[in-house]
Amino acid sequence: MHLSSLKLCNYRNFRSVALNPNPGVNLLIGKNAQGKTNLVEAVNLLSCGRSFRTSRARELVCWGEKQGSVVAEVVLNSGQANFTFIIAEKSKQTFINGAQVKSLSDFVGRLLSVSFSPTDLWLIKGAPEMRRRFLDRHASDLDPAFIGHLMTYHRALHNKAKLLRSPSVNENGIRPWNHILAKAAVQVAKMRIHFLSDLQDKVNLIYPQFAATEGRVKVELKTNFFKAPQEVSEAYAEEVLEKNIRRELSAQACLLGPHRDDIEISIGGRNSRSFASQGQSRSLVLALKLGVISLIEELRGERPIVLLDDVYSELDKEREAALHKLVLSQNRQVFVTGTDAMLKTRDLSKAHQIWQIENGEITELLE
Ligand SMILES: Nc1ncnc2c1ncn2[C@@H]1O[C@H](COP(=O)(O)OP(=O)(O)OP(=O)(O)O)[C@@H](O)[C@H]1O
Ligand SMILES: [Mg+2]
Repeated sequence: MHLSSLKLCNYRNFRSVALNPNPGVNLLIGKNAQGKTNLVEAVNLLSCGRSFRTSRARELVCWGEKQGSVVAEVVLNSGQANFTFIIAEKSKQTFINGAQVKSLSDFVGRLLSVSFSPTDLWLIKGAPEMRRRFLDRHASDLDPAFIGHLMTYHRALHNKAKLLRSPSVNENGIRPWNHILAKAAVQVAKMRIHFLSDLQDKVNLIYPQFAATEGRVKVELKTNFFKAPQEVSEAYAEEVLEKNIRRELSAQACLLGPHRDDIEISIGGRNSRSFASQGQSRSLVLALKLGVISLIEELRGERPIVLLDDVYSELDKEREAALHKLVLSQNRQVFVTGTDAMLKTRDLSKAHQIWQIENGEITELLE
């Protein structure tokens, strides 16, 4: 798929811009703090419904304005579609082909994109939340039903947490929520395990292409809830919650369940969060993201849009060559950001269109 047009209105530092990107490689060049990341963030927003930089949507609206929007025309295998995202002070509204989409679960995962940025290293060394975010975003790209189960789980979790904090709570009040949670947790866990198993296979094909292999890479769900994949059942989940009901009541918090899951990524049996070097971490991140691209193409039959934000500040020659070989040489729409000097030294002769971004204005550079 590719964007044939993109319009931003009062989005971050863009007042009103419109561009018709090339279906191939688009370079976004400009000095620091001009809006390059803001632009790729806007594309990412249309695919997953949230920014990769902030969870507060109002930060995306241009300072001093009440409302901002991102509108894209997208060419899919099945035809053309219009995606619109409107962000106001306290609300978000989404539209596909002019019709409002009430639930975010019906909006996300339609415009498929995979982004790369220097902050991705947090995927290896950062808190479990970083890995869960990656997991959930791309599990829903591959199976759009996933986000519905996850939302059901989080709604019930929110209600149970509120109840646990109330002074009049007792075990009988908690049990109905445990029943709903057990049901949703099973769906979430099964889909997460399935996604990670597919991803692990891809990573083991990709990683050796640019890094010395010190053994098999494992990408596994780490859960404090289900001890092993064969234990993922509603009865088991409800039993665990029942056994811990007093502990949760005294802690006044939901202690067990998929909201505490993590991904354990290991090479040759060693946990990468503790042991991976900087270079290994970069290679792992690259392999994970390239693995996601490959899975999307296999399972959704669409080529995702690739967003490469400032990746050249982080990559060495070997990994850069792998990225070019695996991403740029294929028939995909790619947005690459960087400063002029940084991009000039790279082999980006495949670039089809160059955009100059300066203080929230975009102009096409003709070579
Ligand atoms: N809501 C907003 N309204 C107006 N301007 C904003 C808003 N949010 C961020 N900005 C401005 O956008 C600019 C940052 O843009 P961006 O992060 O896209 O820069 P960049 O071109 O990617 O720079 P770098 O090369 O350093 O990564 C900053 O000047 C910031 O002040
Ligand atoms: Mg930037």
